Amino acid sequence: MTRHFLTGEELSAPELHRVLDRALELKAAPRSSRALEAACVALIFEKPSTRTRLSFEAGIAELGGHPMILRPGEMQLSRGESVKDTARILSRHVQAVGVRTGPDALLEELAAEGTIPVFNMLTAGHHPCQALADLLTMREAFGELAGRKIAYVGDGNNVARSLAIVGAIAGVEVAVASPEGYELEPVAGAQLTRDPVEAVAGAHVVYTDVWVSMGDEDTADARRAALTPYRIDDALLDHAAPGAVALHCLPAHPGEEITDAVLYGPRQRIWDQAENRRHAQKALLELLVAP
Ligand code: CP
Ligand code: NVA
Repeated sequence: MTRHFLTGEELSAPELHRVLDRALELKAAPRSSRALEAACVALIFEKPSTRTRLSFEAGIAELGGHPMILRPGEMQLSRGESVKDTARILSRHVQAVGVRTGPDALLEELAAEGTIPVFNMLTAGHHPCQALADLLTMREAFGELAGRKIAYVGDGNNVARSLAIVGAIAGVEVAVASPEGYELEPVAGAQLTRDPVEAVAGAHVVYTDVWVSMGDEDTADARRAALTPYRIDDALLDHAAPGAVALHCLPAHPGEEITDAVLYGPRQRIWDQAENRRHAQKALLELLVAP
């Protein structure tokens, strides 16, 4: 059966733990797997990306595969060719396709109409590959995940949603603190609050993301006003568990959602987290694509 990775819910708990274990092995020996030997993986970017493009392109090459970066403006999609027909053509040439776009429905349609694995490289609703790297970073910092706690502080966006969904599968407690109007909808297992201090109490990871996501630029001023009390700084980290670390999916806006001191200081694992995108995604690709 063709496997997809659209929201993260496609993975069972044992599969998720196996992906994280495998990612640690691949991190220790990055050129040890040729799981994508002679395979082509299409990567469609309808929105900008630094980390996702770099980590997928480098990771697929390390696995012996060929990454094909596709921009919609260069495809017949931009001239009205249907997603259905695009899915059929992709399925004849490549072994998997990753997509970064706005609507989740586009990925669902590609998955439904094609015969190859489809994986989500960020939509307005979800960013599950990011959540894999986040959990991998937590594994490195704290060992076993069960019983650990992540506090996400800020906009209840795609990154928060994926952290809540994938964190719950991993057996991690997830608390999300957001202001009125920017809340995450209820996600099974996630505690929602308005109070950042309440959210970070006992947390091993304190996490944030940008206040203005791609596509939210029209409401940037209102977002900055509402989210200012949700900045991650050293004082907020002091309310978390001893030894807690700060995470951020990046790109960051130092001085907005996170202080310079935290972003570049000793209490973060943010730059390791960015590297972990590659290792986690390689393990995911082995699961989705390798025979
Ligand atoms: N975190 C993340 O997805 O970064 P990019 O937007 O640079 O890919
Ligand atoms: N929430 C952000 C994440 C960027 C990696 C966005 O969607 O723009």
